[in-house]
Amino acid sequence: MLKAESLRKSFGSGRARVEVLRDLSLEIGTGELTLISGPSGCGKSTLLSILSGLLYPDEGRVIALGEDLGKLDERQIERFRLQHTGFVFQGFNLFPALTALEQVVLPLNYLGLEAGSANRLARMALEEVGLGPRMGLRPASLSGGEKQRVAIARALAKQPDLLFADEPTSALDSQSGQAVIDTLHRIAREHGTTVLCVSHDPRLKVHAERVLTMEDGKILSDRRPASVEETST
Ligand SMILES: Nc1ncnc2c1ncn2[C@@H]1O[C@H](COP(=O)(O)OP(=O)(O)O)[C@@H](O)[C@H]1O
Ligand SMILES: [Mg+2]
Repeated sequence: MLKAESLRKSFGSGRARVEVLRDLSLEIGTGELTLISGPSGCGKSTLLSILSGLLYPDEGRVIALGEDLGKLDERQIERFRLQHTGFVFQGFNLFPALTALEQVVLPLNYLGLEAGSANRLARMALEEVGLGPRMGLRPASLSGGEKQRVAIARALAKQPDLLFADEPTSALDSQSGQAVIDTLHRIAREHGTTVLCVSHDPRLKVHAERVLTMEDGKILSDRRPASVEETST
């Protein structure tokens, strides 16, 4: 489903060169919520960018949904990302001038959906994250947790196979963070979406089927918390 083989990535050159990923390999199963944790600066965001096709590795390859991402040209990669991946960021990345509904409709327009079905899918996604009654509001009128749920609805509306979340709860208070975590977990379970989430949030570990720890550009540990395994097997 999502597989990385011997990834290497460095930034800069000469003395300023930083080796961020050093021979990193992983395989992520379909429909699971996988958590990646690790110290700040260890390369988590870089890894997500490479796995989602936003950035090319220096060496190694990524196979996502059967496609070798390194073999796609820029236009094909853009298409792949648009059709199959959703991204949720720490800072929400919403447009101040658009209502929640408009934020979610926008990428569906890019996908070429006609207005009626774009609207219907967007409303469904917003209702699914519990924002049905708030979909006419702009970001300034929404709480942090609500903004993040708009961002999740935007990623969810196109029904992606892969959903990436980069520290989605770190700007939120504990209650809003919990709502975001519950939403991500439900998406993995009910839609069979593969969710890959980078976070320090200890509450996420309880919900994750699998917890990977990163250090020094590699995967240091790979655990499946027993409680989740028992309920899923
Ligand atoms: N575009 C870039 N140019 C130069 N250095 C970068 C770039 N992106 C990330 N880095 C460096 O790579 C390292 C890992 O960054 P990052 O993947 O953002 O880590 P994390 O998300 O785990 O905090 C850091 O030292 C960072 O400064
Ligand atoms: Mg980061």
